[in-house]
Amino acid sequence: MSDLALRALRKTYSRKGRPDVEAVRGIDVEIPSGELLGLLGPSGCGKSTTLRMIAGLEEVTGGDIVVGGSSVAALPPQRRNIGVAFENYALYPPLTVAENLAFGLAARGRGGRAEIAARVREMAARIELTDLLDAKPGGLSSGQKQRVALARALVREPDVLLLDEPLSHLDAAQRDTTRRELKRLQRDLGHTTILVTHDQEEALSLADRIAVMKDGEILQIGTPDEIYDAPATLFVADFVGEPAINLLPGTVTPGGVRLSDAVTVALSRPPLEPGRSVVLGVRPEDVRPVGEDDADMRGTVVVYEPLLEMGLATVRLDGVAEPLTVQTDPDLRLDRDQTVHLRFDRDRCHLFDADTQRALPGMENR
Ligand SMILES: Nc1ncnc2c1ncn2[C@@H]1O[C@H](COP(=O)(O)OP(=O)(O)OP(=O)(O)O)[C@@H](O)[C@H]1O
Ligand SMILES: [Mg+2]
Repeated sequence: MSDLALRALRKTYSRKGRPDVEAVRGIDVEIPSGELLGLLGPSGCGKSTTLRMIAGLEEVTGGDIVVGGSSVAALPPQRRNIGVAFENYALYPPLTVAENLAFGLAARGRGGRAEIAARVREMAARIELTDLLDAKPGGLSSGQKQRVALARALVREPDVLLLDEPLSHLDAAQRDTTRRELKRLQRDLGHTTILVTHDQEEALSLADRIAVMKDGEILQIGTPDEIYDAPATLFVADFVGEPAINLLPGTVTPGGVRLSDAVTVALSRPPLEPGRSVVLGVRPEDVRPVGEDDADMRGTVVVYEPLLEMGLATVRLDGVAEPLTVQTDPDLRLDRDQTVHLRFDRDRCHLFDADTQRALPGMENR
C-alpha cells in the first residue's frame, strides 16, 4: 500500500467551438498510506474528473500525481496499480461475475489459476456475491452490478482504491451492510482510498478525513469532526450537515451578535469588533427550546415536523428574515403559531465574515 499525493493538479477540458471548462483548478492533497479520504462537493465541482486523472483515464492539464513517491501522471492506466469502482460499473458483459473479478489478475502476476480463483471466491463471499459468481452482468440488478464493480476493484489489491459513488444503487439495507464490509476490508487490507459520495452520512461514517470541493478547488480538508465542528467557510458549513445549519446575518455587539432589533444572541467569546457584519451559524441541534427565564429569544412556530428520532420546528424570530430550524426531542409536540423560548448553545455558534464568507479568526475551534 502506498501514500498518494496530488500536487497542483489541474484539468481543463477544451473542445472546439466551446468555452474551456476548468474542471479542476490546482488541488493539493497528501493522503497517507491506508487513509480513506472522503471527497464531498456539489454536482459538477470536479470530483469524478479528479478520480479519472488519478486512474489515468483522463490526461492531466497540469500538476502531478505521486503514488508511493513516484509520479504516475504519464503512465497508462494499466501500469498504475489503482483499483477503481465508478458508478457506471464497466463490467465485461460476455464474462461471468467470477471471470469479471478474475480478469487481468493472471496477467498482473497475481498468482496461479487456483490461487486467483480462491481469492475471487473469498472476496465474493465478503461482498455477498457468492450466489452470483456464475451469472453474467446483463442479468444483474444495478445494485448487484455495483457490488461486482466494488469486489473487482478490491480483489486486485491495488496501491490506491478510487470509489466514485460505489454504493449509490444499493437499497438502504444492502448499503448499510456493504458500507460496513467496505470499511472493514479497507482497514484490513490498508488500501489508500478516495471515496466520492453524495451521501454525507456515508462520508462522515467511513472517512478518516474529508475534503470539501467546490468549483474545482478544495475548500477544506479535515477529520469529519473538524469539518462539522469548525467549518472554515460559509459554504462548508452549509454543505455539511443534515438538516442544514442555520445561517443568520447579523452585527457584532459587545456581548454577542444582534440579529434584529428584538433579537441578540449572547456569545461566550464575542469577537472584538462591534459593528462588524457577520453571519452567525448555528446547527439545528444547538438550539434548544427552554423556559422563558433561560431564553435568549422568543419565536413563533411556523411548522413542526415530528420525525422518528427528533422533531424539527421551523421558527420565525421577531424581525429576522430567515426562518430558524430547531431540532427538538421526539416527544416534544409544538403547535403552529405557538410561542417558543429558545437558547443557542453559546459554545457552538459559528461566526463568518459577511464579505469574505470565511470563519472569523478564533471562531474555528469552538
Ligand atoms: N469529458 C468532458 N468534457 C467537457 N467537460 C467535462 C467533461 N467531463 C466533465 N466535464 C465538466 O467538468 C466539470 C466537472 O465535472 P465532474 O464530472 O468532475 O463533476 P463531479 O463533481 O463528479 O459531479 P457529479 O457529482 O455530478 O458527478 C463539470 O462542469 C462538467 O460538465
Ligand atoms: Mg461525478
